[in-house]
Amino acid sequence: MSVVTLLIRNATLPDGRTGIDLLAREGRFIDVAPNLPAPPGAEVLDAQGWLLSPPFVDAHFHMDSTLTFGQPRVNRSGTLLEGIALWGELKPLLTEEAIAERALRYCDWAVARGLLAIRSHVDVCDPRLLAVRALLQVRQQVRPYLDLQLVAFPQDGVLRAPGALENLKRALDLGVDVVGGIPHFERTAAEGATSVRLLCELAAERGLRVDLHCDETDDPASRHVETLAFEAQRLGLHGRATGSHLTSMHSMDNAYAGKLIALIAEAGLSVVANPLINITLQGRYDSYPKRRGMTRVPELQAAGVPVAFGHDCVLDPWYALGSADMLEVAAMGLHVGQLTSAAQMRACFDAVTTVPARILGLAGYGLELGCSADCVLLQARSPVEAIRLRAQRLAVVRAGRVVARTASASAALDLPGRPGSVDFTL
Ligand code: FE2
Repeated sequence: MSVVTLLIRNATLPDGRTGIDLLAREGRFIDVAPNLPAPPGAEVLDAQGWLLSPPFVDAHFHMDSTLTFGQPRVNRSGTLLEGIALWGELKPLLTEEAIAERALRYCDWAVARGLLAIRSHVDVCDPRLLAVRALLQVRQQVRPYLDLQLVAFPQDGVLRAPGALENLKRALDLGVDVVGGIPHFERTAAEGATSVRLLCELAAERGLRVDLHCDETDDPASRHVETLAFEAQRLGLHGRATGSHLTSMHSMDNAYAGKLIALIAEAGLSVVANPLINITLQGRYDSYPKRRGMTRVPELQAAGVPVAFGHDCVLDPWYALGSADMLEVAAMGLHVGQLTSAAQMRACFDAVTTVPARILGLAGYGLELGCSADCVLLQARSPVEAIRLRAQRLAVVRAGRVVARTASASAALDLPGRPGSVDFTL
């Protein structure tokens, strides 16, 4: 199905280089330099100086619940806990076919937006493992155009929900990639800590990555990420363990948070913040002032911790919005974290591209020679401009083949005395 040779002409790269040509053959970049000659028969994509980026990567998503908004009812309070209860109401009504159909539809949205790799948690608390089976099938089906990594996620608590640990192990046996958990949802803090230990041990035994929903609460006393850092270090999971959400860190005492951030860095933990969801679900029990709830992104970054921004939810029991647009996620992260210096804004682009690619362990990610020929052409001149404009994805390339195109955004004016067109770029 793949075009043998694709030449992308005159691209600007995220590192600022301009006038770059990229030659792809057999799914890989085989030359990256200015003014490459076009091989006979090559398809040519003229980038016209626009920004060519490696594809967007979402390090935190829930594909089993996506696009279920309104089923069987909407979340009236808009809270995390009602969302979990609502998901519990929906679970008995799910079918494997419906989960797969929605997931495939979401993958189409993702590809159109240049989002070509997703780590999705999949709930393993249903003993039928319907969602696991559906998403394993989807993972296989979308492989030619999207990398889907699955996390065995015990939504109702691996110790709290009867049979959850066995179901989680069965899901891993079936081929789910990553060990998940939700320690703050276990019955007690002690049980939460026990769950972190056993899930990390399971990951270490099986040679897998571990990614826990951790401390997704405004409670400053929720400190499971400390245990996760300790266990990751004890078990040698350096670079393979991720703490997702960590919203309690927003509310912690500064002295403790400072010590904790150093521990997280020392243990080689990665962090995923989910700005769209954190800003809407956290601080819900505050009057005024209301906390934002997103974890301490700039402080973690300053300590050298890889921090990605995830989408988490799209049209599901927890979030009524979203469209697979990782630039929207980056823009929200930038605003909520007040990440407004030039370097910080630039890092927000990395938080939806290179950083999550590292967290997922994607092989061959990037625009260098020998990398997989996967990329997205954005109607922007720089990564920060791409965030500002939520830039059009002019073309999306997977394995050296153009798989999606979007028309460029321009507006024609017909104003008295001022006919012309509007260009929002600088
Ligand atoms: Fe999540």
